[in-house]
Amino acid sequence: MSSHRQETVRRIAAPDIAARKGKTPIVCLTAYTAPVAEILDEHCDVLLVGDSLGMVVHGLPNTVGVTMEMMIMHGQAVMRGSRKAMVVVDMPFGSYEGSLEEAYANAARIMKETGAQAVKVEAGETVAETIAYMVKRGIPVMSHVGLRPQAVNMDGGFKAKGKGADERKRILEDARASEAAGAFAIVVEGVAEGLAKEITDAVAVPTIGIGASAGCDGQVLVVDDMLGLFSWTPKFVRRYADLKGEISRAAAAYADDVRERRFPGPGEIYFAKAG
Ligand code: KIV
Repeated sequence: MSSHRQETVRRIAAPDIAARKGKTPIVCLTAYTAPVAEILDEHCDVLLVGDSLGMVVHGLPNTVGVTMEMMIMHGQAVMRGSRKAMVVVDMPFGSYEGSLEEAYANAARIMKETGAQAVKVEAGETVAETIAYMVKRGIPVMSHVGLRPQAVNMDGGFKAKGKGADERKRILEDARASEAAGAFAIVVEGVAEGLAKEITDAVAVPTIGIGASAGCDGQVLVVDDMLGLFSWTPKFVRRYADLKGEISRAAAAYADDVRERRFPGPGEIYFAKAG
């Protein structure tokens, strides 16, 4: 008898995503919790446990304060909720920039403790060495170029990238360096259509765009943004639901029912057994 537990559904893995270059578009959404991951799983190729969770779930002003513990806890939840989608977990700010060894140790910890299939790092050209170090040691890495939210303090805010020729050249180099280092896919964030297409044509691995036009091999959105949980979203977000309105309407109806003593009703209480 084999000691290996047989999974009934094989999860999508890094080579499957890499092989989608130039084929059918890759569908990716962020996910942070088990129940939402369970809903998204059948619709998405990739569930990204983005460090955007710091802002979206924990109310932080940016992603700089996100910790390894937060990423691991949400990574575990998303793995529990999903079965078939590839799960990629962001490495938080400060967990991969210090040294190659520290980056590898933190990436390996995320992989071991969550069971996710890959990690993602925000890649300036200097991170290429880190990507290569991790990939050579068996960790699939997704790279992230263009607008890099973890660089918010260097940039002085979240600003679209690639407006000048020098910056466009540097972002293209970041993407090329990520590919050469072994990244299996590259998230391209907050760049104009022309640059997104140029990057997509220049690399042999899939690009996954966010605020980067349809010129990429796939798309990702922050799930809470596309579900309409916030009053404000960036211009590139399409809202597919109005959860903020739905939740507010439900909470108001509940509050009315409690105040008017309509809740709980006769069918919503326990009865003691006679005798
Ligand atoms: O943290 C995140 O959610 C991300 C996406 C915006 C790509 O990196």
